[in-house]
Amino acid sequence: MNKDFLALSDWSRDDLEKIFELTRELKAMQKAGEAHPLLKGKTLGMLFEKSSTRTRVSFEVGMFQLGGHALFLSSSTTQMGRGEPIKDTGRVMSRYVDGIMIRTFSQEAVEELARCSTIPVINGLTDMYHPCQLMADLFTVSEHKAHYRDLTYCWIGDGNNMANSWINAALTFGFELRVATPPGYEPDATVMARAAAAGAKVTYTNDPFAAARGADVLNTDVWASMGQEDEQAQRVEAFSGFQINDELVAVAAPDCIVLHCLPAHRDEEITDAVIEGPHSVVFDEAENRLHVQKAIMATLMK
Ligand code: CP
Ligand code: NVA
Repeated sequence: MNKDFLALSDWSRDDLEKIFELTRELKAMQKAGEAHPLLKGKTLGMLFEKSSTRTRVSFEVGMFQLGGHALFLSSSTTQMGRGEPIKDTGRVMSRYVDGIMIRTFSQEAVEELARCSTIPVINGLTDMYHPCQLMADLFTVSEHKAHYRDLTYCWIGDGNNMANSWINAALTFGFELRVATPPGYEPDATVMARAAAAGAKVTYTNDPFAAARGADVLNTDVWASMGQEDEQAQRVEAFSGFQINDELVAVAAPDCIVLHCLPAHRDEEITDAVIEGPHSVVFDEAENRLHVQKAIMATLMK
């Protein structure tokens, strides 16, 4: 078992499926009002260099429900924001807390933090990956569809941290993934190359309708991610046509489901009608961040 949860590609399918099994058990216990203090007396340090609603709240509430405690630490109010090296932060935190969740820009910084820490490190989003979100997404699909590994998945929009994570997931779980991005906004080249070399069933197109045709799961994300705010206007132009709307949903499987990690820019990458419509499972998806992250923390920090 790995010490850290930094990218799906570090984990085997069997170990990820064990996390899903534990998620199912913990979710049922929480719904039944049964205590499940798997991390009694433990503390999670949460380092944030970017904004968050879901990640911050779900990790903090998750630790509370597991009998532990979480500390919110933002870069602007800690020495991280004044340039203390990540390796020192990791070594110091290792002496106070039992696990670290970090949301930051560079994946390399998260890897360095993990190397320098003696405690588990969880990636709560980098520019490269958002692995906890992927776990929540796949768990949500498994709740709505019997055979999540046999479905056809479709990514529409930016080749960002979520798209990279979906490619990793397609490789690990063996499902078909079609990625539709505008030219110049493809996913990370290393991630694509590794998936191709390993025989992943991932295809790329600039045609969202070709990607969505007959797909079981449609998925998108904002056109400008955190850190790209000043590219917003140029991206709105480049991504025109890469919207999940009723026309796109109409060419997908009749019982398709629609995912979005949130926050969404309604009527940009997805219409209000689709988010509020019968195919959308985005709020189950958001809820499942809590349940899967509890399973991830319990797996790593017990
Ligand atoms: N999906 C997600 O990570 O949301 P937050 O940015 O609100 O944490
Ligand atoms: N791609 C988005 C995801 C937010 C949860 C971002 O990085 O801002």
